[in-house]
Amino acid sequence: MKVLALSSSPRKDGNSRMLAQAVLDGAVSRGHDVEIADLVDVVSAPLRDCRTCRRADGTCSIEDGYETLLRQVLAADAIVLATPLYWYGIAGQLKIFIDRLFCYTKADYPHSAEVKRRIARKRLAVVLTSEESYLGSALGVMAQVQEMARYLHHEFVGVVRGVANSRGEVTRDPANPMGQAFNLGVRLFDEVVTDYQLDSERDGVVWPEFPRATANQA
Ligand SMILES: Cc1cc2nc3c(=O)[nH]c(=O)nc-3n(C[C@H](O)[C@H](O)[C@H](O)COP(=O)(O)O)c2cc1C
Repeated sequence: MKVLALSSSPRKDGNSRMLAQAVLDGAVSRGHDVEIADLVDVVSAPLRDCRTCRRADGTCSIEDGYETLLRQVLAADAIVLATPLYWYGIAGQLKIFIDRLFCYTKADYPHSAEVKRRIARKRLAVVLTSEESYLGSALGVMAQVQEMARYLHHEFVGVVRGVANSRGEVTRDPANPMGQAFNLGVRLFDEVVTDYQLDSERDGVVWPEFPRATANQA
């Protein structure tokens, strides 16, 4: 399987990127192909008014690496979004990346049908780091990603949060987010995502009697 991490911190030696790399290391340990992209190197401008910005042939006229990265996203089976908490939300660079998907899913774009088909039904994971530790501070990120996952028919398989501020400090978080991120990478394609409704058929147990190998045994 192909796993692509989109790292949105401008700090390439920062905490959230380290968590993303740990997820990828976990995925590699299961034989998956992994890549990481730094959005700061790719996304140079925010969404504009498509009516004035779109070329006559329907393509986007913002000349940066977006379309190439989008091709990588479409080819991936799982996406890892890595973000620092900025003002209780995702980093602007990631928001811009998401916003600009609009240009490629609108009917004016000549390959929009392909983009819509291939952007859907992926596994989606989030790693984020923040200076503050209280749960409420990251709820905005969770709510946004959850709704995005629903809209895109993605399986939102997990979140790892590290509490850290200065570069690399995430390795000192006693909750061991680096280890959690590695395990998330190990389980990326095995994790069972359930969302029951009153009439859902269910067994009554979550885990079978003989559980699969845990991440630590893998
Ligand atoms: C512009 C900016 C806004 C931030 N906003 C918050 C915030 O709202 N809450 C918080 O806990 N930390 C906030 N932080 C701290 C970062 O989330 C924290 O340092 C994080 O670990 C940085 O991740 P990085 O090392 O991957 O860049 C902010 C930092 C910056 C630069």
